[in-house]
Amino acid sequence: MGIRAETIRAETAAVLTSLRGVWDEEAVDEWDHALQSAAHAIADGADDELVLAAALHDIGHSPLIGGPHVHDHCGLAGDWLTPRFGPRVGWLAAAHVAAKRYLAATDPGYAAEMSQTSVLSLAEQGGAGVGPDFVVHPWHRDAVRLRRYDDAAKDPDAVGVPVSVVLDLASRLAR
Ligand SMILES: [Fe+2]
Ligand SMILES: [Fe+2]
Repeated sequence: MGIRAETIRAETAAVLTSLRGVWDEEAVDEWDHALQSAAHAIADGADDELVLAAALHDIGHSPLIGGPHVHDHCGLAGDWLTPRFGPRVGWLAAAHVAAKRYLAATDPGYAAEMSQTSVLSLAEQGGAGVGPDFVVHPWHRDAVRLRRYDDAAKDPDAVGVPVSVVLDLASRLAR
């Protein structure tokens, strides 16, 4: 592993660890949420970039980056991820609120399945709606997949991937 990849792996480990005890949802902290999101992505056969983006989509809530109640935690995630893992990982993570708004607007069953926290934050995030830039973006379908992993990753009894799985991806995709 080169020095750059080693540095990025260590930074990713620090950010992930900092999510322990950060609560956004009621059922899981951001640490479990991250590792469960990655597990759902892998189970769905997602490619490495999509798995990594799924694991790290909420790092804007890390006290090392933005914090639990920061405005625009998506944009912060994108800004942190893009220089380290490239534009696709950054964009996919940053798009997870646009993907929620899109699903709430286009999937009739979606709103009924959303967690209480997600329902409340949707209003602050502009409500259901199809963003014109989102829906024409070449990666928007992957962003919708990520959003499904995100929504499924709120189970207090589920076990996510070992953190080493995410860190190995971070080393491999570091640029
Ligand atoms: Fe989020
Ligand atoms: Fe999330």
